[in-house]
Amino acid sequence: MKFSTKQIHAGQHPEKTTGAVITPIFQTSTYSNEKLGETKGFDYGRTINPTRLALEANLASLENGKYGYCFSSGMAAVQTVINLFKPGDHILCTDNVYGGTYRLYEQVIKNFGLEFDYVDSSDFDKLKNAVKSNTKFIYVETPTNPMLNITDLKRLGEFAVSKKIITCVDNTFMSPYFQNPLDFGIDIVLHSTTKYINGHSDVIGGCLITSNTEISDKIKFLQNSIGSVPSPFDCWLILRSTKTLSQRMKAHNENAAAICEVLSGNKKINKVYYPGSKTHPQYDLAVSQMKGFGGIISIELGSFDNAVKFCNALNIFQIAESLGGVESLVCHPVSMTHGSVPKELRDKFGLTDGLVRLSVGIEDKEDLIEDIAGALIKV
Ligand SMILES: Cc1ncc(COP(=O)(O)O)c(C=O)c1O
Repeated sequence: MKFSTKQIHAGQHPEKTTGAVITPIFQTSTYSNEKLGETKGFDYGRTINPTRLALEANLASLENGKYGYCFSSGMAAVQTVINLFKPGDHILCTDNVYGGTYRLYEQVIKNFGLEFDYVDSSDFDKLKNAVKSNTKFIYVETPTNPMLNITDLKRLGEFAVSKKIITCVDNTFMSPYFQNPLDFGIDIVLHSTTKYINGHSDVIGGCLITSNTEISDKIKFLQNSIGSVPSPFDCWLILRSTKTLSQRMKAHNENAAAICEVLSGNKKINKVYYPGSKTHPQYDLAVSQMKGFGGIISIELGSFDNAVKFCNALNIFQIAESLGGVESLVCHPVSMTHGSVPKELRDKFGLTDGLVRLSVGIEDKEDLIEDIAGALIKV
């Protein structure tokens, strides 16, 4: 089956008692035993829920994976995946990782004896050289938030397999429509489903997908043991959203490409970061491993003052954290999403006070271009 067919049907069947086409919200915390010890395969809501199972099967199918697990947030998925490891294990992570992931690793997980190093994973030699004898896990975001640096997934997959290191790719920015890391030999894919997968800015969620049975069994155990599971209603909302994922992603991509072109010619902008731009230093790699470039564009406006003027002058783009929804948003990463990343690390990868991140929605592109052009006049 192709993607748009899978997004509508995978994991879902007409409901047995009524034939309802849409998977119902099984809003129950527990299930009755017909006789003591005789269940229909469902015992307790944290452990198993039919609406969640449908979503998990749907997302696994979209990522070309065998097993899917859903969580109450993207961060709950990150927390769960890191619990695969133990004190003394060394973990390598992309330096320009989402600020919340960095905070979790540095301020929470480190207290439990795991070691972390942050490396520019877009430079494969740097990544390889940072591996130590106790490296057990490589956690990569590609493209990164918000610098849109790209890691070579094929090389990473081959290298990690040869070293018996488990890999996880945060695929939030691309969605399963534009990039499928498991196809390149990556072990685990992570999404903040809050973003493109749900796409309507009304749910917080996360997921982990794998085809490795041993890893899957461990994640299933952790999902039940830790218990950061999503509600049946949130699963139902996300399942509704995946039915339009390919159409939304195409629209995000088309709008972002048009906006990138306009931005690139504007003298008020020092630099435009977008993987679909031929000026992106890793454009060829992007083309080789992604089927599209998504809706996130970062721009360098030169100073905090300019960033503030630009954000405040926008009308359609709303100033807000998050990304990947149908509506266009603008964010100032230093003061919003990446505030917990130390300045010296931010400086290393170019996350300056003048950087602004656009999450291009699916409104009419002419309106979005007019909005940006109007705001740039104020800079
Ligand atoms: C790339 C990326 N990964 C993970 C997360 C965390 O997801 P959540 O906010 O759903 O916990 C975010 C949130 O912005 C993100 O941008």
